[in-house]
Amino acid sequence: MKDESLKNQVALVTGSSSGLGKAVAIYLGKAGAKVAVNYHSNEEGANDTVKQIKDAGGEAFAIQADVADEESVENLFDKVFSTYNNLDILVSNAGIQKDAPFTEMKLKDWRLVLNTILDGAFLCSQVAVRYFQKRGIITDISNSAGKIIFMSSVHQDIPWAGHINYATAKGGLTEFMRTLSQEVANQKIRVNSIAPGAIKTDINKDVWSDEEKKKKLLELIPYNRLGKPEDVAEAALWLASDKSEYVNGTTIFVDGGMSLYPGFIGNG
Ligand code: BGC
Repeated sequence: MKDESLKNQVALVTGSSSGLGKAVAIYLGKAGAKVAVNYHSNEEGANDTVKQIKDAGGEAFAIQADVADEESVENLFDKVFSTYNNLDILVSNAGIQKDAPFTEMKLKDWRLVLNTILDGAFLCSQVAVRYFQKRGIITDISNSAGKIIFMSSVHQDIPWAGHINYATAKGGLTEFMRTLSQEVANQKIRVNSIAPGAIKTDINKDVWSDEEKKKKLLELIPYNRLGKPEDVAEAALWLASDKSEYVNGTTIFVDGGMSLYPGFIGNG
């Protein structure tokens, strides 16, 4: 049976030219949502996401924007509204890693990661929430006035030496998500996060493409395999649909058990 759980809905997925964002955009598109495929610099990747959605019978278009820049975000949403005249789902996914030992980390890389993850979440969800509040619920479409999904990480909880900018941003994103949900849930706006573990994408290619490093990484995953972007996309689809209507202000971990302190297996 064809999945039409998001029929007539409009979704914006930031950072959907590759990796998790790409898989999420394709899943939402296949479930019937019209998808705005945002990218920062990888136009080719975004066009491919659009193509995959269209090939599956869906609707999508690609649009460049820097989620950390206020004007760019305003243009992004203007384009979404002028193209699809609506918005139901925001997946605030755009993220970046700029790793370095703490004492060597440059302020510019600290800021780039925090700005992309936190300013991006702030700017995009602010426009989305204002719109959802103004529009309210359209019962034919969804029981909620709007849905926001943040792409977090297991590192919202697990400290990560050598990645202090990233772990700090994801930790902050968690309290941002929870506070926003507390603030807008009574308007039937649903806000949640997904916390992926080690999913095989470009962001961690240097680890999974090296046999030694991959072996060590697998020791951190009780389920003993790397995640696939589709594992995360399944969770996003569920959070975007009314099937999860009563789920508010929470994080779904999609991590093969990475957050279960696997170092304690046979230890401690
Ligand atoms: C990071 C990946 C990492 C994973 C598990 C993610 O948030 O982006 O690079 O493999 O967490 O540590």
